[in-house]
Amino acid sequence: MNPNITTLPKVELHLHIEGTLEPELMFELATRNHIALPYHSPEALRKAYQFDDLQSFLDLYYQGANALITEQDFYDLTWAYLLRCAEDNVIHTEIFFDPQTHTDRGIDFDTVINGIHRALIDGERQLGISFGIIACFLRHLSQESAFETLTSVLQHQDKIIGVGLDSSEVGHPPQKFQQVFDQAKASGLYTVAHAGEEGPAQNISDSIELLHVSRIDHGVRCTEDPELVDMLIQTQMPLTVCPLSNLKLKVFDEMTQHNLVTLLDKGVAVTINSDDPAYFGGYMNANFAAVDEAFKLTNPQLAKLSLNAINASFIDEPTKRVYRQKIQHWLDNTK
Ligand code: HPA
Ligand code: ZN
Repeated sequence: MNPNITTLPKVELHLHIEGTLEPELMFELATRNHIALPYHSPEALRKAYQFDDLQSFLDLYYQGANALITEQDFYDLTWAYLLRCAEDNVIHTEIFFDPQTHTDRGIDFDTVINGIHRALIDGERQLGISFGIIACFLRHLSQESAFETLTSVLQHQDKIIGVGLDSSEVGHPPQKFQQVFDQAKASGLYTVAHAGEEGPAQNISDSIELLHVSRIDHGVRCTEDPELVDMLIQTQMPLTVCPLSNLKLKVFDEMTQHNLVTLLDKGVAVTINSDDPAYFGGYMNANFAAVDEAFKLTNPQLAKLSLNAINASFIDEPTKRVYRQKIQHWLDNTK
């Protein structure tokens, strides 16, 4: 791996905490919770991680989440991710969780958020990693169910900074959630949405215009609409791109065909993120390394990717300034 990737301070903005559940921990939790898994070993489970598209991944991902039951499980899950962040020099992370994946099987919202939040507080104190938490609505479920979830989110607004939209994009366009996003925004929450991953470029424009999002998660299909790309550049609307995820879910066949670096060089505010690293083959450094292998990133390009993420984050301005200085320091001291 390019050693400059290792030392670059990074900010992660697109990470589903349930997608960090490594097979080994899944087995440990299943044993602890007396749950039977449909695989005989972590290795057998890992071998099943071959996906044709988003839906084939989501089926396994929701099944895996069944191992998470207690507040301690959610703590352990999040703590394991934070240790990986520390290894990869991630200085700030804004993580997603999917409340309905858990509440729909009888786990209390409080159990989930309290476990995740407690680990992030410990991570901030012990590892120096700042954080934000974003609750995602599952778009294959109804807006009514999203409204119920929003009620719980608002009871934990001291811990949750925003809401997002994930799960099956095709057939579940942004307009399905316009009212619940309006209410979230009116309540002071930030909004983001997955769009233009498997769905068309129109979903990106609609998420911006109808859901008033601050960032687009994925967004790689923007290139199908040159006017949209121009608008993304003008408005500096951030895209949280996930290169290894896109390869695993066959959004692109080869990393050399990925449009991330073209978009970066054109001035789109793209960032690199790991999405569901336990399923897609790597955390932040692995994602940067995969792009670097295909495109040979220069130090200014690497720095720009981190700066884009700092600008796109929901960190307060004084902290953003400190983080930008870290990138400048890296750039000044890296050959
Ligand atoms: N897309 C949509 N939903 C998801 C994803 C994703 O990449 N990861 C976890 N839920
Ligand atoms: Zn995602």
